[in-house]
Amino acid sequence: MDATTQNARKLAAARAALRFVVPDAILGVGSGSTVNALISLLRTSELNIRGAVAASETSAAALRLAGIAVLDLNEIDSLPVYIDGADEVDADLCMIKGGGAALTREKILAHAATQFVCIVDESKCVTRLGAFALPLEVLPMAVALTLRSIERLGGTAQIRADVITDNGNRIIDARGLDFSNPSALESDLNQWPGVLCNGVFARRRADILVCAGASGIVVTGREAAQP
Ligand code: 5RP
Repeated sequence: MDATTQNARKLAAARAALRFVVPDAILGVGSGSTVNALISLLRTSELNIRGAVAASETSAAALRLAGIAVLDLNEIDSLPVYIDGADEVDADLCMIKGGGAALTREKILAHAATQFVCIVDESKCVTRLGAFALPLEVLPMAVALTLRSIERLGGTAQIRADVITDNGNRIIDARGLDFSNPSALESDLNQWPGVLCNGVFARRRADILVCAGASGIVVTGREAAQP
């Protein structure tokens, strides 16, 4: 798929997700180019939202530019909807996320939200997770330990060059891990000291998937029929 087609599909997925936005409420906003398309639509849409919580400093800046108030998650007591992209998503709506290094805040917002709407172009839809390298956000002092732990599992890993996360940490991209049970892999990686977050989103997966492809928009998942 060429970049123009892919960008058009990202925009189409973002547009189709607007029906899940709850008017006059706070919206959870993820990070990445598909989310940037969503933010541009929010700027011009008639939809009135009270404000947003953002998964990255980049998204927060884009929201402010769009005239949308950005709140701290600690200031709100409920988050009806969170909308975010993904690097891979399977038929059970489990995902790999973190290609943009925002996985920790993304996972926090996903867990805080009542409904998680994932927006992707169809190149992200896979039968089995794991072709995309799995991002881990790692505290600086645990980088070498984590690299060794991944190798002990039979995987390979790379420190993402020149990337420091919004939380001041490093990203390690891991390949060759066993994705036959994504929730089990996520739980195992959650036990690793120094790994702040791993990019498997299976324990709290998406509720709704909005996928834009050659044949248009396909919406799947729990409560997909209702906004
Ligand atoms: C950022 C993410 C993004 O959701 C993911 O990388 C998809 O990005 P894009 O919409 O640019 O393809 O997890 O950490």
